[in-house]
Amino acid sequence: MTGKDRIAVLTGGGDCPGTNAVIRAVAKKAILEYGMEIVGIEDGFEGLINEKYRRLEYNDVSGIITLGGTILGTSNTANPYRYAVKSGTGDKIKFKDVSVTVISNLKKLGVECLVCIGGDGTLNIASKLAKSGIPVVGIPKTIDNDLHGTDITFGFDTAVSIATEGIDRIHTTAQSHHRVMIIEVMGRDAGWIALYAGIAGGGDIILIPEIPYSMDIIAEKVLQRSKRGKRFTIVVVAEGAKPRDGSSVVQRIVKESTEPLRLGGVGFVLGTQIEQATGLETRTVVMGHLLRGGTPTPFDRVLATRLGASTIDMIAHKKYGCMVGVRGDTLAEVPLEDITKGKRTVSPNNPLIGSARSVGTCFGD
Ligand code: F6P
Repeated sequence: MTGKDRIAVLTGGGDCPGTNAVIRAVAKKAILEYGMEIVGIEDGFEGLINEKYRRLEYNDVSGIITLGGTILGTSNTANPYRYAVKSGTGDKIKFKDVSVTVISNLKKLGVECLVCIGGDGTLNIASKLAKSGIPVVGIPKTIDNDLHGTDITFGFDTAVSIATEGIDRIHTTAQSHHRVMIIEVMGRDAGWIALYAGIAGGGDIILIPEIPYSMDIIAEKVLQRSKRGKRFTIVVVAEGAKPRDGSSVVQRIVKESTEPLRLGGVGFVLGTQIEQATGLETRTVVMGHLLRGGTPTPFDRVLATRLGASTIDMIAHKKYGCMVGVRGDTLAEVPLEDITKGKRTVSPNNPLIGSARSVGTCFGD
């Protein structure tokens, strides 16, 4: 690497706490150790398609470690291989492959390497670009913690902390009013956030997509608590949770997105059903995007700094087509292709589930 080298950085997909800490680590190390130039791409791949860039100087990335969101902006719909363009009048859209534009814009920019900070959608695109011979590296990012090739993603710890605080607060009002309280958390098709926050918050019932639930068993658990003199119940439900004979609740369809289904609302469905089955007053709180906002936890700041710094070492050794993943206590170079293996969901045999069951937690099965 020489002082003439220039790298580009983009953040794609849903934002998550710790993203700015990663941008800071990447840019600071590249500037301080290698004298490199940093180009910040705005709004994920949207910026590469429509040439929206800005130079990131040291001062632009200084003082942002605690900042939520991403200073570069993001998009979870801009996919160069399936880019939505308006067709005629009205809402009609058609999809175009504009990857050639992205590749030519990168060449015009004269960058040594493109750093893609994102979840499975963004890293799948990065993997395709790498296959076309573009020097790309990835940094895994999502609150959902569902990426192959890494034990944990930054943003997850913060999301779990916020969800746990939410459950703690709901606990007190549940006790006062003797209600069944349902707290719905994000996570898409993975139950990691619900599992960790549910255990940390002392949830009586935890429902995750990986263990389809039975309403009869949920009602039985609620009534059993009532009989034991416990006049409230806390249910923590992942947005992707589904009944044994049904599917997840879809809140909306975002046609432009690579993953068009947006989940949400299972908490309300459960609320009505629990009330009918038990006769007990029930309320639902959806935590939603609250889990993605605000300042990252110390754990996520540290992880983001390690990942960002290690990424620059990878670039310095011209190791492209990889992302930096967490394996136990160490970091590892993982082929971007690993991301294409699908989602890393919770195994029903995960020891954490066993521990929770042993203290009486019900998983609706
Ligand atoms: O992948 C992160 C995530 O927050 C999921 O947990 C959630 O299902 C989805 O993104 C929500 O997406 P949007 O921001 O488009 O509503």
